[in-house]
Amino acid sequence: MIFEFWQYLTTPTQIEQAKKMGYLKEAIAMAARADRCQQEWGEHYQSCQKAINQAINRAVQHRTALIFGAGSLKDVPLDELSKKFEKVLLVDLVFLKEARDKVAKFNNVELIEHDVTESLSWISEGQDWVQAPSTWLDDTHIDLVVSLNLITQLPLIPVRWLLNDYKVPEATADIVGKQLIFAHVNYLKQFSGEVCLIADYLDIEFDNKGNEIERFDPWWDVEPPKPEITWEWEVVPLGEAGKKWQKNHVGVSFL
Ligand SMILES: C[S@@+](CC[C@H](N)C(=O)[O-])C[C@H]1O[C@@H](n2cnc3c(N)ncnc32)[C@H](O)[C@@H]1O
Repeated sequence: MIFEFWQYLTTPTQIEQAKKMGYLKEAIAMAARADRCQQEWGEHYQSCQKAINQAINRAVQHRTALIFGAGSLKDVPLDELSKKFEKVLLVDLVFLKEARDKVAKFNNVELIEHDVTESLSWISEGQDWVQAPSTWLDDTHIDLVVSLNLITQLPLIPVRWLLNDYKVPEATADIVGKQLIFAHVNYLKQFSGEVCLIADYLDIEFDNKGNEIERFDPWWDVEPPKPEITWEWEVVPLGEAGKKWQKNHVGVSFL
């Protein structure tokens, strides 16, 4: 707890919404959970790295790689990306010290704090509209784009923020959630290089006897692209959050 508080105080953030809306707090909590659930999360991280390695091999040229949702970097094959590409851009709203230290030894890898929705500045002020992201679309050197365990996370904090802090009606907040997902898929499709989307497409909650309690559609009713590779990720193992546990189905699509 003290370490987490220290992380909160000492992590630099360039995007105002990272602290204001709770992204930094979430990143710190996620890092702590990843430490506690090393076995279950480790297998998932390995599967992500394997999928990104496939995407690296599918790319026709290897000038710039752009990774959205890089976060902890635990699911990023950094050595391979750095070796194969002239330049690697790792994008997230927040980077903790561990990630900053990891990239320090690579001279062609850059961490970029950036809001991939390009909409948080006004959502954080209570406005319920989403714009189409466009950053990097004019960069003709981008040969690989990876969206990494990010897309289904995009609505979570903004929708909660609009509901709780601005009392936006549920139906309106729900549309914002769908639009954030839809806009990200459209954004990815506009890149001309190889595009790899890694995301959960079905989340299932179980009781301690293994009986299914509930299934969630993490895509907010938006149709996900058909995955070519899939695996299951025990994202909340039994004991982590009381008597329930949760398994996510993760898929990889090449757009
Ligand atoms: C489930 S985590 C995956 C991160 C990383 N791939 C990992 O597993 O450690 C989702 C990531 O999306 C980032 N994120 C959420 N909303 C974002 C936004 N609007 N712009 C950029 N990054 C965002 C979070 O900061 C977090 O690092």
